[in-house]
Amino acid sequence: MLALKTSWLELPLADNPKAMFHYAWLRDNCCCVECKHPTTHERVLATFDIPDDIAPTSADVSGIDSDKILRVVWNHNQHVSEFSIKWLAEHDYSGGVCLADSADPALLLWGKELHEKIPRFDYQKLHQDPSQLLAWAEAVRDIGLTIVQGAPLVEGEIERFAEYVAVVRETIYDRLHNVKASPGEYNAYNVASTTLELKPHTDMPNYNNPPGVQMFHFLANESVGGESTAVDGFHVAEQLRKEDSEAFNILARTPVRFKMVSSRGDVQAANPLLTLDPLGNLKVFRFSNQLAEPLMLSVDETEGFYRAYRKLGRMLDSTDYKIQFRLNTGDIMVTNNLRVLHGRNSYDANSGARHLQLSYMDFDDVLSRIRLLKSAT
Ligand SMILES: [Fe+2]
Ligand SMILES: [Zn+2]
Repeated sequence: MLALKTSWLELPLADNPKAMFHYAWLRDNCCCVECKHPTTHERVLATFDIPDDIAPTSADVSGIDSDKILRVVWNHNQHVSEFSIKWLAEHDYSGGVCLADSADPALLLWGKELHEKIPRFDYQKLHQDPSQLLAWAEAVRDIGLTIVQGAPLVEGEIERFAEYVAVVRETIYDRLHNVKASPGEYNAYNVASTTLELKPHTDMPNYNNPPGVQMFHFLANESVGGESTAVDGFHVAEQLRKEDSEAFNILARTPVRFKMVSSRGDVQAANPLLTLDPLGNLKVFRFSNQLAEPLMLSVDETEGFYRAYRKLGRMLDSTDYKIQFRLNTGDIMVTNNLRVLHGRNSYDANSGARHLQLSYMDFDDVLSRIRLLKSAT
């Protein structure tokens, strides 16, 4: 039975006989045309204009089953708000649980066992079948490493693919970045444009918001060596949290400055290697030995940091966690760059052509595509 209390009302719902909704919350979420724009669905009411003593002068529930409506008349301006009971049930916050989102990840941490089962998708099918595109996007979200096979061997394809999925995230790399050991032909301002081994790293930790999704398109991979490597940074960090919480905490609180300079800019940012959300869950993993600036910590902190950093780096580089695999001409490797590190072995540039094109997307834009694909089915 509906009951009016001092600052909230109690409403029996099918799943919760004593659901509570605060008056300020209800008034704030009024969906009348004065409070919410009828076409953009954005809030027009200024939340901070709601009087502190807001309360109903009356409230009642009418209608039957799923059409039931809660109608509230407020003590200011006799404003009337109506809420469908169905909507209230979907937004019942009495349990203190955040609303689940249709794009929420189901994180699957992985180690060397992923080697045999990296999720692989067919380029054509991704374009023909929305369920395949959704499965691929969810694998990027949940596993953070996928291979799309059979992409056309056309320069610029990776930029087109990014626009097909979501939108290109630009950085101070070229919008379409070439990785090829041909200095003079392409910009060669980073170590990827040499034939050296690249230890596992994430791209662009020099941004406060690094690009969330990284995509390599192999236009040619005929050279000897150059096998790709990948590591689940979240898995390694969780293992470190269990084994050595002191090292984990140092890495989660010590800012490290990263810097990248190109013909288009000088972008720098200082953040901890492990960023946690307010609940302590891993949110962003930053790791790039090649872009890290000299540490400028106190004498006491320096020793502790190096101990923790070495431990993390050795775990990332160990075959317990790191997988190695060969990508073929026509493959697109896609990683969650906020979690999964990538690298490659050294290679012999004289043994065959090796040319990659690289583009980025933001993770939010891939989650957006997941929501749109889900709501269309
Ligand atoms: Fe990279
Ligand atoms: Zn209203």
